Amino acid sequence: YPLPALRFALLNWYQQQGRDLPWRHSRDPYAIWVSEIMLQQTQVATVIPYYQRWLATFPTLPDLAAAELETVLKLWQGLGYYARARHLHRAAQQIMTHHAGEFPRSYEAVVALPGIGRSTAGAILSAAFNQPQPILDGNVKRVLARLYGLTVPPKQAEAQLWQWSAQLLCPQSPRDFNQALMDLGATICTPRHPLCHACPWQHHCLAHRHQLTHEIPRKMSR
Ligand code: ADE
Repeated sequence: YPLPALRFALLNWYQQQGRDLPWRHSRDPYAIWVSEIMLQQTQVATVIPYYQRWLATFPTLPDLAAAELETVLKLWQGLGYYARARHLHRAAQQIMTHHAGEFPRSYEAVVALPGIGRSTAGAILSAAFNQPQPILDGNVKRVLARLYGLTVPPKQAEAQLWQWSAQLLCPQSPRDFNQALMDLGATICTPRHPLCHACPWQHHCLAHRHQLTHEIPRKMSR
């Protein structure tokens, strides 16, 4: 199947079935960054009230940079993985020092910040600036592994998965495309009981075609 058909089917599905999430109303890289860090290890429903409270307390990046670490950690209480809060605070101070308080727009500068890996950098730059940067979190790995019928554990095919994510990414609508991919993984292409009948890629998906949805992604053998 040609890439444009895959992109169109996903974007069309997203327009009708995509989730309305608070950070999707923002184009502020700071707010989107905060949301992506919270979402790294925490469910959407849990993140929403923390995200709202965070932005009410620290509306801008300079507000966060100037805050006491103690205040920052207090606001994080209940989210877990406190390294994320420490990284946010330290990164905000680095952005004040090295980027004049403006969230950087280059991939290299963003991925160099504490707490931001390749996928989070791609998620921020595509959502905030509509840059064509691929993403590859756990959900996206599962979606792509099934779509392309990946028979080895994703851990052994990272480079291939990144290549698929980059190749699929819609050059005209990278922001919506990446958000759509995340929604597909979270709501349709779920680990245990995927809703293939409702999937925009049902007729393109190799795992579905060969009834291997429950075998893919393959687990790591020990
Ligand atoms: N998980 C990680 N980033 C996300 C986003 N932007 N929207 C929904 N779920 C996510």
